[in-house]
Amino acid sequence: MAVTLQQTLIDIDEQQLVFHLHNDQISYILGVETGNVLAHLYFGPRVRGYHGERQYPRIDRGFSGNLPDTTDRTYSKDDLPQEYGGNNTGDYRQPAAIIRAANGARTVDFRYQDCRLEAGKPDLKGLPQTYVEDEDEAQTLIVTLRDATLGITLELAYTIYRERPVITRSARLINQSEQAVDLEKVASMQMDLPTQPLDAISLPGSYARERQLSRERLNRGVTQFESRRGASSHHMNPFVALAAPNTNEFQGNVLGALLIYSGNHQISLERDPIGQTRLTMGINEYNFDWRLAAGDSFQTPEVAMVYSTTGLNGMSQAYHDLLRDWVARSRYKREPRPILINNWEATYFDFDANKVQSILDAAAPLGIEMFVLDDGWFGHRNDDNSSLGDWFVNRNKLPEGLADISKRTHDKGMRFGLWFEPENISADSELYRAHPDWVLGVPDRGRTLSRNEYVLDFSQSDVVDNIFEQMTAVLDKVPIDYIKWDMNRNLTEVYSPHSDSAHEGETSHRFILGVYDLMERLTKRYPQILFEGCSGGGGRFDAGLMYYMPQSWPSDNNDPIERLKIQYGTSLVYPISAITAHVGTSPDELLGRSTSMKMRGAVAMSGTLGYELDAAQLSDADKQAVKAQVVFYKQHRELVQYGTFYRLESPFESNTVAWMFVSPDQKEALLFTFVILGAVQPEPHITKLAGLDPQQTYVETDTNKMYGGDELMQLGLYTTPVQTSDFTAQVHYFKAKD
Ligand code: DGJ
Repeated sequence: MAVTLQQTLIDIDEQQLVFHLHNDQISYILGVETGNVLAHLYFGPRVRGYHGERQYPRIDRGFSGNLPDTTDRTYSKDDLPQEYGGNNTGDYRQPAAIIRAANGARTVDFRYQDCRLEAGKPDLKGLPQTYVEDEDEAQTLIVTLRDATLGITLELAYTIYRERPVITRSARLINQSEQAVDLEKVASMQMDLPTQPLDAISLPGSYARERQLSRERLNRGVTQFESRRGASSHHMNPFVALAAPNTNEFQGNVLGALLIYSGNHQISLERDPIGQTRLTMGINEYNFDWRLAAGDSFQTPEVAMVYSTTGLNGMSQAYHDLLRDWVARSRYKREPRPILINNWEATYFDFDANKVQSILDAAAPLGIEMFVLDDGWFGHRNDDNSSLGDWFVNRNKLPEGLADISKRTHDKGMRFGLWFEPENISADSELYRAHPDWVLGVPDRGRTLSRNEYVLDFSQSDVVDNIFEQMTAVLDKVPIDYIKWDMNRNLTEVYSPHSDSAHEGETSHRFILGVYDLMERLTKRYPQILFEGCSGGGGRFDAGLMYYMPQSWPSDNNDPIERLKIQYGTSLVYPISAITAHVGTSPDELLGRSTSMKMRGAVAMSGTLGYELDAAQLSDADKQAVKAQVVFYKQHRELVQYGTFYRLESPFESNTVAWMFVSPDQKEALLFTFVILGAVQPEPHITKLAGLDPQQTYVETDTNKMYGGDELMQLGLYTTPVQTSDFTAQVHYFKAKD
């Protein structure tokens, strides 16, 4: 083991085999225990050193066996806090890995073997991940463990970043035996937290109600947050936060864990009989069985962990910076994002070049910067029953082709964007007729349709190649500035007709690897294109997608009141620049609720702004309102998209909702407050601001009133509903007085 790094972020006590990863903000400590078992010691605020405070308390606990072939009754893997627990050998808690040997045994017992340090962050081939631009920004500890009986080596990678309260972890299994084994479960990380009361905060949801923040006290037993849908899903985001019960938006300790992956995931929290909490996170073991041939290796996705001592806002801000700067790779990751108008809710499938022209004619004078042609431009698609898989223009609808639409858009001084749904196929398509076997499904069984679509077998490279070629045939010819990448169903009958029985359990992960491969190839080949992820709204709003696409559509639900919750929940992890938000029509298309243009605008301007309506149908008053929104947003989008975001008051708890954006130099701030229901005799309500410089005087530009930063944060402002009407919004812009 050679330690050659300068200004090391990782101390290794070679005598006691204790590893201490640290920066100015956090420390993560692990060590090697008796029998070479890798123990978890600490993750939390920075400490200077470690002097054995977390020595495992040895107690003879009945019915907790001891290390195999040893007699010390006070030492059991069943209660030892660990970093990556085995299976079927004395630790009855959730295993990190289950490996089936050729003889059928499912016993896994990894012991410490060695470690090494690497500058920067090693690349996880074929997977989305965090990265650093300069090797000096991070260091990585790789701890090697080995199950000698299986002949399998496990490499646990821990990366610490110089400037961030972040540790990333992943695992790699290498089969050094002579025989194949089957991986039934391989977690990316596991960690046993000491006994303490903990709340689990998760992001469950559904179609059109994504990422609804949920908080529950952990009790004995297993709490599981997972997706078995073949996608990270609308239903449960691959994220959990473990918070001390007193933690709120501004204070308290909280540990966040985010899986950088877009497929089936499993987060399990097991509160053991002595109150310790085991956190295990990775690819879901459901529908997963990976044949690992002799000599082969398996790399898990990565988990990004954040530790915050300044509550949930502190955690979110760390995630926002990390995802924006060191997960997203697009050249747009720090660019002002264009204000777009999308034709979906304006026309659905019913459009032609004239209709597009009328939207362009109306949108351009409003200052809107990009037009996106959504679903329906290809094959012979006039509804959602046909043509997925046929990525060539629908000449009946657009006789002059896509180049004509692109030119019309560019002639208006706007950028041009186009919709694709690369992973799915309609039975009524040329591609399906030519390759009916390119679809996921079990022979001699029915295949589940969803939105009348099948899923292409992206576990097979020739299928991915075909879609790549079809897409490049369009993108090479037509000047396109943006792509919306949709995926409108979840996976079923997950079986690849081109695989064999030994490898069938690999299909759902291989599917996602195929998706990543296509995204990698396209984003590399077209670096000028801004990609936006989408999956029937926000069904794949995850960090895996952010590696390829710096923004995502969070929901088909444009109702601003519903959006308050969706955007509030999404902001727990994902940066505002990634959260697209469009002004829709009133009444709203899905819900039918009527809201003012001001309310819709304020919610949409709290994200990456766009419009989801027919600009040609707007009244003159609405056109003026849109124009003013666009001007205002252009002035402030840098602050919204790249400022520091503070959640102030939650739509999950209160009738008043508030959030704000502060510039890095604290010279500017933008406050949004929303009152959901009006009241005749309203209780006075005060909103206190955050993140300002207390010594600074700020001018509120609308009123020209001056306030101290300390006043705005300590006294706050009345945000009592002054009107009796429902659904009202106020926007306040503050600028530091020179
Ligand atoms: C689902 C998306 O979320 C919508 O915005 C739209 O693109 C439709 N798909 C088109 O089919």
